[in-house]
Amino acid sequence: MKRLIATVLLVITAGFLVARIPGHAQDPASKASLDHFMELKLEHSKSILEGLATEDYEMIATGAQRLTALSLESSWNVHTTQRYLDQSADFRRALLVITEAAREENLDRAALGYVNMTVQCMECHRYLRKQGSAK
Ligand code: HEC
Repeated sequence: MKRLIATVLLVITAGFLVARIPGHAQDPASKASLDHFMELKLEHSKSILEGLATEDYEMIATGAQRLTALSLESSWNVHTTQRYLDQSADFRRALLVITEAAREENLDRAALGYVNMTVQCMECHRYLRKQGSAK
């Protein structure tokens, strides 16, 4: 069961990685710092995955909290459409489940929360791609 969950998580993560968002013209300096900001999401989500794989609840909770904090920073709101704000709220809800599950030391719930969070990553990026990587 654990091996199955781990495999599913890896497949999802790999799938996410290949689905890049096409870049759009922007000032190179601010583009670089935005890219860096966005890539932090990947770092933190990797630490959640690592925590799940090693049953390290502290690592899971820390990753989820760092992602939540990131999503509340002003750089997050590069778009202000209602849809983008809704996607951000869904994303934070998924993170809340992960944080709660980590505190309850409920690995299955945390793993499902991670899957849900990953779906939110992809949904928001899909929305942005549809907008032609919207501004
Ligand atoms: C609410 C919307 C939203 C959610 C949820 C979201 N992102 Fe993003 N992501 C963005 C935006 C906006 C960009 C910047 C796209 C651009 O350059 O126009 C971005 C860019 C990125 C990039 C850089 C992409 C590239 O092609 O260089 C990575 C990596 C990334 N996000 C990872 C993640 C991960 C991992 C998650 C989930 C843990 C996530 N994102 C969830 C909105 C979101």
